[in-house]
Amino acid sequence: MSQVEATAETPFWERGNLAPVHEEVTAFDLPVEGAIPPELNGLYARNGANPREGHSGHWFIGDGMLHGVSLKNGRAEWYRNRWVRTPRFNGAPRRPGVPDIRSSVANTNVIAHAGKIMALVENALPMTMTRELDTVGFQDYGGKLDTPFTAHPKICPDTGELHFFGYGFVPPFLTYHAVDASGELMRSIPVPTRASTMMHDFAMTSGHIVFMDLPVVFDMPAAQRGTMPFAWSDSYGARLGILKRGAGIESLRWVEVEPCYVFHVANAFEEADGTIVIDVAWYKELWRGGPSATSFDKALLKRWRIPPGATRAQEQQLDDRSIEFPRVNDDRAGLRHDIVYAVDSGQGSLASDQASSLRKYDLKTGKSAEHVFRNGVSSEFVHIQPEGAGGEDDGWLIGFVYDRARNASDLLILDAQNIESKPVARIGLPARVPQGFHGNWMPGV
Ligand SMILES: [Fe+2]
Repeated sequence: MSQVEATAETPFWERGNLAPVHEEVTAFDLPVEGAIPPELNGLYARNGANPREGHSGHWFIGDGMLHGVSLKNGRAEWYRNRWVRTPRFNGAPRRPGVPDIRSSVANTNVIAHAGKIMALVENALPMTMTRELDTVGFQDYGGKLDTPFTAHPKICPDTGELHFFGYGFVPPFLTYHAVDASGELMRSIPVPTRASTMMHDFAMTSGHIVFMDLPVVFDMPAAQRGTMPFAWSDSYGARLGILKRGAGIESLRWVEVEPCYVFHVANAFEEADGTIVIDVAWYKELWRGGPSATSFDKALLKRWRIPPGATRAQEQQLDDRSIEFPRVNDDRAGLRHDIVYAVDSGQGSLASDQASSLRKYDLKTGKSAEHVFRNGVSSEFVHIQPEGAGGEDDGWLIGFVYDRARNASDLLILDAQNIESKPVARIGLPARVPQGFHGNWMPGV
């Protein structure tokens, strides 16, 4: 697990705990400090960029690697990390600037839906995986899906439906899709937009789907360089496209927002009068001059409110401290939430390798609480709702933390109601889990 010595030229994604690991590890019966709640039976898996060759042109384009821990009856049964065996990982040539939904690095998220575990990246089809993190193959819904698949699909807790979109560089730039609870692709609707913009996430409420058409616009010179093909535009403007769930494209309306960039939506819901509320990690600007920028500005927790008939969203900054990787209790997806969990991205940014605390916002009381990882660097944490429980913050938070002293990582389980407290369980892993992107708890998997 040695790390290559960084030089002045080493990009941030090859330094410290952002640097890739070089081995696939399997370890059984992991050491535990504290006690794993015995009702936690399932798999926690998380994805991230881990370039096979050790280098990549941007943090976001390294080969996907999953890290998973299986929990069973109070034991940490195993840890595995596995590259996703995409055609590109297996040596298929790259064709910069040529869209190909079967050429991907599958590095951004991993979800379970309709009995399938899928590794996701926003420019390609999902890759299905086994629970042991072996690659099965592409998921194209019986040949029906012919667009990319966002890394941030939403599962509706009421219907079990999977809502997602694909965006690309050729018209139609954006297509919305919905899959039913059994895994059948029900509907695909092209959504007219003015250009291809980087659309990393979207929002879902009980009645609507909201797309974010923000001014980080497709940039052909960057595409031909083989890096993230987007750059900030001062002229494009920023707007949200609101589509009624279950209706056709005639229901689409656009509302303006202040120019900004948002990678991540925490959650969205509708108030009794139909006002749509969306909580996001908000960047004032992103990638002016292209994605070669060496860091990110800080993101803030912000709320957009869109009353019925409004042509412009109301905007409210909810805190002045930096956040990223916002999550809510997934049982509240599309429904009213009061609690947001997010990683504090520190003084600089996600790129600084300094994210060192997890914050819990109670938006009803305006209070927040923090778990500070004194000797470690945290990644995204995910909420786990106990079976049958009703409180929004009942249950646990789970995520990887890099322990600098050990040069290895731990999987931590925190009490979601008392996040400042000592972890409920600290599961020691035999290897380093590099700072990555997103994961999920998959109960019963
Ligand atoms: Fe993301």
